[in-house]
Amino acid sequence: MDTFDAISRRRSIRKFKSDPVPRELITRCLEAARLAPSGTNCQPWKFLVVRDADKRREIMDASFGQPMFGQAPVVIVLLGDAKAYRKRFRTGQELMEAGALTREDGDRAMAAYKEMKSVNDDSTAIIMNCVLAGENMVLEATELGLGSCWVMLFRKDRISEVFHLPKHLFPVALIPLGYADQDPPARPRYPLGEVAFDESVAKAWEEN
Ligand SMILES: Cc1cc2nc3c(=O)[nH]c(=O)nc-3n(C[C@H](O)[C@H](O)[C@H](O)COP(=O)(O)O)c2cc1C
Repeated sequence: MDTFDAISRRRSIRKFKSDPVPRELITRCLEAARLAPSGTNCQPWKFLVVRDADKRREIMDASFGQPMFGQAPVVIVLLGDAKAYRKRFRTGQELMEAGALTREDGDRAMAAYKEMKSVNDDSTAIIMNCVLAGENMVLEATELGLGSCWVMLFRKDRISEVFHLPKHLFPVALIPLGYADQDPPARPRYPLGEVAFDESVAKAWEEN
């Protein structure tokens, strides 16, 4: 399966068979997540692999009863890691080492970035990075014949309690993984013409 195939075949799966998933397949999904890019390569993520049925029930309770968590044999709790982010991101060192910025421009960029914090705060950046890892995971799951679903409708405070998360780790998303017990059709998307534009449109936007 090539990348575009995996992208177009993936569906949000909300009904799962109880069949166990071989550990190697889960490891492969985690590997795909681990290889995601991140700003200054800070890798501000942790992947909590939950198999225990009681814990999955607690996840289900924390997510307003969404039954997929009781069914899917594995749930990945995608965690943002503020410590990892702080350790690597603050100086922009990696961008300078990679030649993306001179030291002087790098220092200016990081100072400007800090000033923009109100619109672009740490948690936004951490979540952006985590989402790339999570999407790698669900695309790899698709290639391996596994169903998955992005879930962000859950009580973060509850998940933090259930897993005794230290302060620097916070839940970003829940991703059940397992064999699908449904075959939903592709859900609609806006046509390309409604979402992709060339730069001439920017002028029209300015005028409106
Ligand atoms: C960030 C995000 C959060 C989502 N949260 C939930 C959720 O809490 N529960 C759920 O059943 N589906 C959730 N979904 C799945 C979407 O409803 C689904 O992706 C969308 O309807 C398109 O369908 P498709 O994924 O099958 O293409 C979420 C998807 C994303 C990307």
